[in-house]
Amino acid sequence: MSTGTRTVVRGGLVVTAADEMHADVLIEGGRIAALAAHDSDTAAGWIADTVIDATGKYVIPGGVDGHTHMQMPFGGTTASDTFETGTRAAAWGGTTTIVDFAIQSVGASLRAGLDDWHAKADAQCAVDYGFHMIVADVNDKTLAEMDTLVEEGVTSFKMFMAYPGVFYSDDGQILRAMQRASGNGGLVMMHAENGIAIDVLVQQALAAGRTDPRYHGEVRHALLEAEATHRAIQLARVAGSPLYVVHVSAEQAVAELAAARDLGLPVFGETCPQYLFLSTDNLAEPDFEGAKYVCSTPLRPREHQAALWRGLRTDDLQVVSTDHCPFCFSGQKEMGRGDFSKIPNGMPGVEHRMDLLHQAVVDGQITRRRWIDIACAAPARMFGLYPRKGTIAPGADADVVVYDPHAEQTVSASTHHMNVDYSAYEGRKLTGRVETVLSRGVPVIEGRTFVGRAGHGQYTPRGICQYL
Ligand code: URP
Ligand code: ZN
Ligand code: ZN
Ligand code: ZN
Repeated sequence: MSTGTRTVVRGGLVVTAADEMHADVLIEGGRIAALAAHDSDTAAGWIADTVIDATGKYVIPGGVDGHTHMQMPFGGTTASDTFETGTRAAAWGGTTTIVDFAIQSVGASLRAGLDDWHAKADAQCAVDYGFHMIVADVNDKTLAEMDTLVEEGVTSFKMFMAYPGVFYSDDGQILRAMQRASGNGGLVMMHAENGIAIDVLVQQALAAGRTDPRYHGEVRHALLEAEATHRAIQLARVAGSPLYVVHVSAEQAVAELAAARDLGLPVFGETCPQYLFLSTDNLAEPDFEGAKYVCSTPLRPREHQAALWRGLRTDDLQVVSTDHCPFCFSGQKEMGRGDFSKIPNGMPGVEHRMDLLHQAVVDGQITRRRWIDIACAAPARMFGLYPRKGTIAPGADADVVVYDPHAEQTVSASTHHMNVDYSAYEGRKLTGRVETVLSRGVPVIEGRTFVGRAGHGQYTPRGICQYL
């Protein structure tokens, strides 16, 4: 489609984080050009090359998934979705932007890690993408590089209080990175679990013969998530920096975030569909099936879910990302038979985030506008992409999804598009499904067919966090 092409999406209910409007949408040159009421003189006057009929459907911004790990080397293997397969699956699920994590290797520079990730993603992606940077080795040179990366559009830095010997940073290293972020506009994203204490519990569990997947959840105690969350908040306060806590799963961790936000601190939180919809019951599935649900932070007992939903409603949690990090059951998750600590950590999900959260709208957990906020607008704002991404408004990229709120679907590995041999939501019936997806005005999904291409997706440099 040339940039001169005009498309009109007619007849739908436009839903953004702020509004619901019965409006037609004019797209020109890959951007939203105008909105006008159905049957208004303005809308009637639009002459288009392509008309998309959205009667009875929602017209929503493309999803922004702020936490993915395509083809990430981890746990002795590599996440099974490439940038090509993973972004195609994202598009199938109505997500038109991902922010993936480039990784600094210990002893190497941030720049080298970022270059590696550009090489992996370049010309592969079906939808637009940006990068966060995992800081695994804090030193004077790394800290100086953080400034440069922020200027170039890599404005967020993930650090780990977990995984000693892999990505772990101690409190002093974290404090130094936070101090740097406080001066350069960067956002520190924290994996908040006390990894030192967890590793002791892992060794004790294995020595006692507790080797099944469910012990992964038991040793990664909710209190060790809450403790690390509390510590990260205090370190950020001392440094004068904002903080974004990733993959929050424990209700006690939500309480720490809520308390910090009640003090007016620039502290933000993300949760993921797996914590909202799955639980330790899944980790306890027999015949090693629980390995499918091993991720960190771990799934929690079902009782924690109410606090996560409440946090999303009250804005103590702002974002739902997937932490998409798929490993096949066969050959990858199986590496941990007889030793849960060798199960690669991570779960697939990039394709189903929008649909699972829409189900929460159907079930009355969140409103339609909150659905679009936590899945599109808030991640776009958090990671400096708004209003180009995350909304439908004049000037925004025409990342537009026509969503059928009445279609029924059953999630299954036999029909999903992620490159992984199981679904964490196998057999789950959902109401609502993506019908059409445009990325910068170009059709990617049309009539339940993938019509996009690897390489359409562009690298998208980001501004600084727009909640500050
Ligand atoms: O289990 C997970 N979450 N794997 C991906 C890496 C991370 O910690 O986000
Ligand atoms: Zn209407
Ligand atoms: Zn993490
Ligand atoms: Zn992650």
